[in-house]
Amino acid sequence: TPMPFTIAIDGPAAAGKGTISKAVAAHYGFAHLDTGLLYRAVGAKMLAGVEPIAAAQALLPEDLADASLRTPEVAQAASKVATIPEVRAALVDFQRAFARRQGGAVLDGRDIGTVICPDAEAKLFVTASAEVRAQRRHAEQQGAQSYDEVLADVIARDERDMNRAEAPLKPAADAVLIDTSGLSIEQAVAAAIAAVDARKDNV
Ligand code: CDP
Ligand code: CDP
Repeated sequence: TPMPFTIAIDGPAAAGKGTISKAVAAHYGFAHLDTGLLYRAVGAKMLAGVEPIAAAQALLPEDLADASLRTPEVAQAASKVATIPEVRAALVDFQRAFARRQGGAVLDGRDIGTVICPDAEAKLFVTASAEVRAQRRHAEQQGAQSYDEVLADVIARDERDMNRAEAPLKPAADAVLIDTSGLSIEQAVAAAIAAVDARKDNV
């Protein structure tokens, strides 16, 4: 695909967005951007004492490569800075430029299909029950937090993400819903590729 083709993948924490996005990007030979890393990088800078709007405006690509962005503390800080309209505004142009690059792009986040790329050629909303999502995150973390702590964190972040005034987490009207609660990774990826293929025939 030499032309731009944007696949928008949104959904709550640990639904499987990243896993599906990487597999879908590899399948089509598209580039992938995990937009959560932008908010995590700003959240990490806020925890380090930097004012979040200034941090978002000065964000550099190398800020996204920091391994410490994956901690639970940074996840909560990310969802707090993500409620600030000026933080979100500072990150729009980078995401839109990535989405329209030649050769296709997959972006995953919370507002890709609704705000960043409302004209995306394919939109998926990936979800799963809060309990399943907490189980998956807990399994990844290898005991850094108890299951109950992970579940409470996931629910707190979902609430903040769904109820903020600016770009709240919700499915775009034209998104295909994929509930991964009972699906293996292979099944979830197959469902995503089938949904994108159906859209590719229409464009
Ligand atoms: O990106 P997001 O936070 O939505 O989720 P992820 O990091 O892709 O997935 C969270 C965890 O769930 C990972 O450890 C996946 O291996 C696992 N998982 C999944 O993504 N899909 C399934 N159908 C089953 C498990
Ligand atoms: O991997 P996980 O789903 O746990 O989180 P993430 O995708 O890294 O996102 C971290 C936080 O950034 C989310 O809880 C949102 O508050 C925020 N975020 C957002 O507001 N908009 C996006 N497009 C991506 C993330």
